[in-house]
Amino acid sequence: MENRPLEYDYTVAKMFMFTTIVLGIVGMLIGVILAFQLAFPSVNTILGEGLAEYTNFSRLRPLHTDAVIFGFTLSGIFATWYYVGQRVLKVSMAESGLLMFLGKLHFWLYLIVVAAVVVTLFMGITTSKEYAEFEWPIDIAVVVVWVLWGMGLFGLIGIRREKSLYISIWYYIATFLGIAMLYLFNNMEIPTYFASGGIGSWWHSVSMYAGTNDALVQWWYGHNAVAFGFTVPIVAMIYYFLPKESGQAIYSYKLSLLSFWGLMFVYLWAGGHHLLYSTVPDWMQTMGSIFSVILILPSWGSAINMLLTMKGEWQQVAASPLIKFMILASTFYMFSTLEGPIQAIKSVNAIAHFTDWIVGHVHDGVLGWVGFMIMASLFHMAPRVFKREIYSKSLMATQFWIQTLGVVLYFTSMWIAGITQGMMWRAHDEFGNLAYSFIDTVTVLHPYYTIRGVGGLLYLVGFLMFAYNIYKTMSARPVEESELQNASPMGA
Ligand code: HEM
Ligand code: HEM
Repeated sequence: MENRPLEYDYTVAKMFMFTTIVLGIVGMLIGVILAFQLAFPSVNTILGEGLAEYTNFSRLRPLHTDAVIFGFTLSGIFATWYYVGQRVLKVSMAESGLLMFLGKLHFWLYLIVVAAVVVTLFMGITTSKEYAEFEWPIDIAVVVVWVLWGMGLFGLIGIRREKSLYISIWYYIATFLGIAMLYLFNNMEIPTYFASGGIGSWWHSVSMYAGTNDALVQWWYGHNAVAFGFTVPIVAMIYYFLPKESGQAIYSYKLSLLSFWGLMFVYLWAGGHHLLYSTVPDWMQTMGSIFSVILILPSWGSAINMLLTMKGEWQQVAASPLIKFMILASTFYMFSTLEGPIQAIKSVNAIAHFTDWIVGHVHDGVLGWVGFMIMASLFHMAPRVFKREIYSKSLMATQFWIQTLGVVLYFTSMWIAGITQGMMWRAHDEFGNLAYSFIDTVTVLHPYYTIRGVGGLLYLVGFLMFAYNIYKTMSARPVEESELQNASPMGA
């Protein structure tokens, strides 16, 4: 038994790969519709006046953010966990009936929650807190899904053969604990129907926090959702998949640990940068700014570690579209973690806040870093879980260039739009009268909104190519893992 290679069980990983792709398509499609709605308002009533309630920007926006965050990204995190976990810990899920059961239950309950979210958001049922829109019954279901994942995660760690925990596992554990803490605290809410003895709808709730406290907890959550949803688990992925795909050992294990603890300590204090110039006490705002700037260190520590992993092997970046995806992802990570701290400086935030520059920052991070890394991970996993060669490497390369162009069009147009907006809002004459009315800014922004829509469309087209490539891979002739063209030279 010890000498035979382990047969890993990828049933649950495959299920989550499926939702990563489907929810990615849905979320990005809605993103493209939103982008064109901002450029051409008539798109709000694209299905006619009668259905405008369901197709307008405000109804679709939370559907986009929740589909890409809790659908696409979270499914990607789960899919990679159910793959990486087994291989790194050297234990197969098939060895434990309980873990298999928990994994499948985790998936099906997750799917039910996704369906409930889609239906309720379409109906307009929302707490109206950004990234925390779900009403209390769904929140409870989310907690159950999370606990199931945690049981599977710690269960697998508990029966592992490999005693030392590879750095990716640390990052997955941090994702689990971080999101659990954030979600529970920010979603403390009082169901109004029960609290009032039967007034209103049974699902309606109000936050347990009020006013400034509510804002503080919300942005402590919002910012750290970026930390534990868009950063920590994605770093877990790259620390596993980049060395595997390139055959290079991680540049520095020490640096990876140092950055890990750096991220853990610094991220939690930086949320105040979302509330600069608000009613939050000034010292908290300053603390948010200072910790944001310090955050460059652990962020760049991870990114540089990834880039230096390719030291002496840069020809692989030119040769392999998959390595290209990962290296560009690390580069976008560096990029958005420099841009973020700059936007967190009070005087810069005075121009950037409420403008499209923030939307640009969000999307160079999520499209360039999160999206690229999740697609790269699934590209690496597909041949191994389906036991088939990737259908087309040239399609992968074409997709890479189309999506890179898409991201560049997206963030450059939003930079120009955002800074123009910020400057126009502030401009005034010598008597203090505003130089521009709101509609002046709208007119100026129109071309940039159109360019953003085109950029987003290109990214979506690339994602459809990715989905097609994976689909064709699944349906190709089966081969053994050892026969795969780029079978990893690095063992598990
Ligand atoms: C060093 C790391 C980072 C810092 C210091 C930082 C800083 C900031 C700042 C100052 C804002 C604007 C707040 C405002 O005025 O409204 C912001 C917004 C945002 N950032 Fe970052 N950022 C970082 C990394 C990232 C990364 C890597 C991502 C995604 C992958 C990301 C996603 C977001 C999102 C989603 C928002 C918008 C939140 C909203 O208003 O809804 N950030 N960030
Ligand atoms: C085809 C790709 C995409 C397009 C065209 C797109 C478009 C948009 C648009 C138009 C908005 C609204 C901006 C506004 O209110 O002014 C938005 C918001 C947002 N999108 Fe996307 N998106 C795409 C992909 C993604 C992905 C993959 C993610 C995350 C993994 C994401 C995360 C977000 C977030 C967090 C916000 C809220 C930003 C904020 O409040 O500042 N998007 N997106």
